[in-house]
Amino acid sequence: MTRPSWEDHYQSDRLPWDTGVPDPALVELVDQGVLPGGRALELGCGTGTNSRFLAASGWQVVAVDLAPTAIARARAGSEGHDIHFANADILAEPGADSPLQAGPFDLVFDRGCFHCFEAPADQALFARRVAGALRVGGEWVSLIGSTEGPARDFGPPRRSAREVLAAVEPVLAVVELRALAFRDLPDAAAAWLGRFRRREMPAQPSSRRG
Ligand SMILES: C[S@@+](CC[C@H](N)C(=O)[O-])C[C@H]1O[C@@H](n2cnc3c(N)ncnc32)[C@H](O)[C@@H]1O
Repeated sequence: MTRPSWEDHYQSDRLPWDTGVPDPALVELVDQGVLPGGRALELGCGTGTNSRFLAASGWQVVAVDLAPTAIARARAGSEGHDIHFANADILAEPGADSPLQAGPFDLVFDRGCFHCFEAPADQALFARRVAGALRVGGEWVSLIGSTEGPARDFGPPRRSAREVLAAVEPVLAVVELRALAFRDLPDAAAAWLGRFRRREMPAQPSSRRG
């Protein structure tokens, strides 16, 4: 059986992740005032709920998704917000007119997009795309399904801390990787909140001997 495409999901309205409210972890970070303000890029924005929240909180937002129907819905629901929505594949080589090149961005946000990729090479490429879009000191906030919690046959993909760090640490500094949950989903699936920052200089090699 072939897996439905992202576009199929949006066309048939099978969107278990789409709660219609901004993610509580993002809301908390914004309320705490710990995120860099300015220009934000949302990757895999879906119908745009979190982009609208960021725009309403003062960011100038660029938001991308692979599924044309998601982008059409996001646009239709976002009149009056300072958001540029674009249909784009994050993993594709970004051309000069790519929304990923519209930076540098102060903040990159994704909820459940990085975790869609299971091949380590794709996860690493995703992290490199983010690093390429951020200004030095800019931050990526990512909500990622985690391998913690009880067994389940539904809900977000599961990624281990080791997988996440293997992709991210080579290109971005780890600010935190915190265990929490997708609190707004019915089963409150276990998640990671990742905060990663673009370095001023490359990390030093490990001092481990041998
Ligand atoms: C689990 S959904 C999350 C959507 C949204 N962030 C939310 O929380 O409602 C993952 C999203 O990533 C998008 N996506 C998957 N692969 C992508 C890619 N290569 N480039 C851009 N978007 C992608 C899908 O179309 C989908 O909207």
